[in-house]
This record gives sequence, structure tokens and C-alpha cells, in this order.
Amino acid sequence: MYLCSLSVRALLFVGVCQVGRRGFVSATETKEQPKKIAVIGGGIGGTSAAYFLRQEFGSSVKIDVFEAGTVGGRLATENIRGQDYENGGSIIHPLNLHMKHFVDRLGLSARADVSSKAAIFNGKELMFEESEWFIVNFLRMLWRYGFNSIRMHMWVEGILDKFMRIYQYQQFGYSFSSVEQLLHAMGGESFHVLLNQTLEEAMLADGFSQVFINDIVTPITRLNYGQSVRLSAFVGAVALARADSGLWAVDGGNKRVCSGLMYHSKAELIQARVTAISTRTRPSKSGTVTNFYEVNYVGDSGHAHSLYDIVIVATPLHQGLSDISFSGFSPPIPSHFPGRYHQTMATLVLGRVNMSYLGSDHKPADFVFSDILTTDNEELEIISLSSLDPINIPKGYQRPPASSSKVWKIFSSTPLSEEQLGAIFESREGVWVKPWLAYPSYTPPQRRMPPFILHDRLFYLNAIEWAASSMEMSAIAARNVALLAHHRWHGQTGKIDQEDLHTRLRGEL
Ligand SMILES: Cc1cc2nc3c(=O)[nH]c(=O)nc-3n(C[C@H](O)[C@H](O)[C@H](O)COP(=O)(O)OP(=O)(O)OC[C@H]3O[C@@H](n4cnc5c(N)ncnc54)[C@H](O)[C@@H]3O)c2cc1C
Ligand SMILES: *[C@@H]1O[C@H](CO)[C@@H](O)[C@H](O)[C@H]1NC(C)=O
Ligand SMILES: *[C@@H]1O[C@H](CO)[C@@H](O)[C@H](O)[C@H]1NC(C)=O
Repeated sequence: MYLCSLSVRALLFVGVCQVGRRGFVSATETKEQPKKIAVIGGGIGGTSAAYFLRQEFGSSVKIDVFEAGTVGGRLATENIRGQDYENGGSIIHPLNLHMKHFVDRLGLSARADVSSKAAIFNGKELMFEESEWFIVNFLRMLWRYGFNSIRMHMWVEGILDKFMRIYQYQQFGYSFSSVEQLLHAMGGESFHVLLNQTLEEAMLADGFSQVFINDIVTPITRLNYGQSVRLSAFVGAVALARADSGLWAVDGGNKRVCSGLMYHSKAELIQARVTAISTRTRPSKSGTVTNFYEVNYVGDSGHAHSLYDIVIVATPLHQGLSDISFSGFSPPIPSHFPGRYHQTMATLVLGRVNMSYLGSDHKPADFVFSDILTTDNEELEIISLSSLDPINIPKGYQRPPASSSKVWKIFSSTPLSEEQLGAIFESREGVWVKPWLAYPSYTPPQRRMPPFILHDRLFYLNAIEWAASSMEMSAIAARNVALLAHHRWHGQTGKIDQEDLHTRLRGEL
């Protein structure tokens, strides 16, 4: 699927973005700095929030990160016979500038590249097989789908070009009070339309063929979001961007970014589950009252609570993902917002695939496909089947052929039975199952998204997942809420929800 190369324009933009910190200094700041900030959730969202909060508020503020499970959250690895494999969020786009910045800043690096090839399975046979040769792929695509494939890459690139504007806005310190405002600043009305239409509707309206959408686009949205082309066009475009070339992962595992950001931000990790957040007031020295948030939590040593000036919720407020009650707020804040998260089962199998399951007459020793995507076929129990490489690629590593026992990852929306696994594999040495509530179930037209601002100084980072869920989206939301928290604390309203930033900042480049 990796038929596209990035536009020169987009690449140049990377260069521009990486230069210099933003210009404004906090000379106008009069109010004291906050003393304590709580971040709830130690995934990529919460840990990057800690990093950006440190950047905004300086070294004196105390930042506590609450984590009920493991730092990394949905970035997680599985150890199989002494090697670790990426099990949650795995792929990063070359233009994900925050992720790139973190990796540089933390002294990490991208994992060595192992060339990969995709095939598409329709339940009977491999109906598309990627070749080693760009030109062969190009001609096959042209033969079957006319210019659909090339136009798809241009279509995604057009969206990506607008998407990239967020980095410049954030560089200059601008923030947005809602997901809708943030997206509007990037792509205007066109982005709102993308949220309200299905990917299928949007692509049909732009002249893509139904056959191309069924054969090529659907397998890509299924692989990335476990959902068909009836998800919203915006998150669909994010999925399609993951068919670009130059995709990468972090050497040693993506979750290393989270622990690195924790260390770098000098935040304190509190291993506990937050159960409730409420408002508290206290008389202050000057005779006025000061407002705090009381965070209640349960850890190994029982129940406890602490007061904070600012709180960032960095976990989805949805059924099955977190259960935090909010009290004393008017209007009330719900524990769970409308909408649900989509279940994706990740089943890791150490074994040998039965070629006849794939209807393939390749000899296992010559079977080179690393990613097998699937079309939307009701009888198919799997969404994808991928050969995994470890998170550390040793020198001279070569991906084992399908004839040897190796690690495969299957995504499916329901657990796989013994019989189903037996049909896919001719031998199994071990099976590891991880059920994820992975990302929102996207059903456009999109109702109102959850808000970034839950209360005066209480923010909700994962609202952004309702536009699209990815590591980079969480990092963008983290920087946005850190800026928002800063500007609201210091009353710098000129940096919030500014109109027409794209034209205004053009001169600044
Ligand atoms: C199978 C799968 C594949 C994916 N593939 C990709 C991909 O290829 N590329 C990509 O960019 N993205 C991918 N994603 C999405 C990506 O992983 C997520 O968007 C991202 O990791 C979300 O990070 P987060 O920090 O916002 O949330 P999370 O990682 O969910 O972090 C929230 C944290 O909060 C903690 N928590 C919850 N409740 C409480 C509480 N009450 N008190 C204290 N702590 C609490 C949780 O334990 C968790 O660690 C994938 C996701 C899955 C599941
Ligand atoms: C999206 O759809 C909803 C419901 O159909 C509608 O109320 C809203 O105005 C639409 N928004 C945009 C930006 O088109
Ligand atoms: C592979 O699957 C086919 C049927 O799909 C079955 O007949 C065959 O025995 C299997 N091979 C092995 C080695 O299990």
C-alpha cells in the first residue's frame, strides 16, 4: 500500500516548523504561577501534557501524574519468548511532528526499517498482492482502478497540508477552547464537513469509484480503526495517511516516549486510580477565597486526596475506560460522555500460518507479505493478520519466512475461538490475547464533541479522539490544553480561539 511519496511542500514545512521556539515571552504575567497541577492518565496524552505544562509554567510548579495501570496506556508491548512486540498503537506518520520532536528531545531513535509488503484478503483469496517494485504496483493499480489510487494520495495530501497548520499555531502559542475550533482553524468549513460525512460519502462525492473504495480504502480503514468506510471522513483520512511511505515506530517500543516524557518533565508519578474530582474553596492570605480541585484517589496505601490549582483529565471519559465522578460542578460534569469505544481484540500468535486459509498457493518459504488486510466480508472473522518484528531490530535482522514459527498479530472485533485459530494456523506454540477498547466508534454525522474545558481550570484532553484517535492527536491535544491552561490562568485571551490565523501568520513564516 505504500505507493505514495510525501509532497515536497509538506517536507519543507517540517523544516520550517522545527526552527525556533515561539516568540512571546511572559512579560505581561501578573498573577502568581500555579503551585500544583494534576494530570490523570499516564498514556501519551497525559505524559506529553506533563511535558508541555512544564514548558508553559516553568520549573517551580509541582506536576503529579496519576496512573492506575502502566505508564504508556494504549502504547504497550508483549513479551514473547524473551522478545518484546508492539501490541497497542504501533505506527507513526513521518509528518507527526510532536512525536518526532519527543523522540529527538529524549535521545530516542526510530526503529530500524524492515521492508514490508501488504496483501488484501477477501475471505477466499489474496485479491491484491503488493510487489517489491514501485512501478509494478503503480501499473497494477492503474490497470484495475484507473487514477483512483493516485488521486487518493493527492486527496489525503490536501487534508494533511491543512492539518500541518496546527504546528505553526502552537509554535506561536495559540490555543483553542474546543475540538471544533481547533479543526476549524486548520481546515475551515471543509474540516467540519469531513467530520459530518462518512469517508465513503466524501470519496464518492469526489469521484472515487465504489470498487476502489471497497477493494482498497475499506481494508485500510479496517486495519487502522477496525471500522468500515462508514466512519467519518476526517478519521478516514488519518487512516489513509497510514498507507503513506516513511511510517516509523520508536526503537525499543513506542511507550518509551511516555516514560521519557515523565522523566524529562520532572513530574511525579502517583500509582493510583482517581475516583472523584470536586471543587473546594479556601480563604487566602489576602482575604479573598481561592478555588481548588480536590482529587480523590485509591492506591496501594488506600484512599487519599490532594488539592490542585489545575487538573488535566487525560483518559477517555467513557464506559469501560475510566470511572471518575465529578461533584460540586454546575453545570454538572458526567462520568461518561455519549458514544462508545470500539472493541479491537489483538491476538498474538507464535506459530505457522496455514497457507490454504489465505487461499494462497505461495510456498510458505516464499510467502513474503507482512500485512494482510481484509475487505468488508461478513463471514471473515479477522480484520487483519500481520507478521510482527521485535521492538529492537538486531543488526542483519531478516524477517523469518512464513515457513518458520514466528509472531503474528491478528485484529478482530470479537474473541477468536479455538476452531478459528485452528483454521488460520497449522501450528501454535503460544497465544496472547489483549482486548482493547481501542478508539471511538465513529458514526457520523458527529454530534457535538466532548469539550476541552470541563470547568474553569479543569481540562479534558481525550475529547480530541472524537475527531481522530492517534498518538499524535493526543500530543496535539496535550499541547493545546497546556497552552489553554496557561492562557486562562494568566488571562491571555488574545491567544485563545483567534480567527483567521492562517492568513495572519502567513507573514510570520
Ligand atoms: C490496537 C490499537 C492500535 C492502534 N494503532 C495506532 C497506530 O498505529 N498509530 C497511532 O498513532 N495510534 C494508534 N492507536 C491509538 C493510540 O494508541 C491512542 O490514540 C493513544 O495511545 C491514546 O493515548 P492517551 O494517552 O490519550 O490515552 P491512553 O493511552 O488510554 O492513556 C490513558 C491512561 O489513563 C489511565 N487511567 C484511566 N483511568 C484512570 C484513573 N481513573 N486514574 C488514573 N489513571 C487512569 C489508563 O490506565 C491509561 O494508562 C492504536 C490503539 C490501539 C488500541
Ligand atoms: C453536522 O450535522 C449535524 C446534524 O446533521 C448538523 O446539526 C450540523 O450543523 C452539521 N455541521 C456541519 C459543520 O455541517
Ligand atoms: C490447512 O488447512 C486445510 C483446510 O483449510 C486443511 O485441509 C489442512 O489439513 C491444513 N494443514 C495443516 C498442516 O494443518
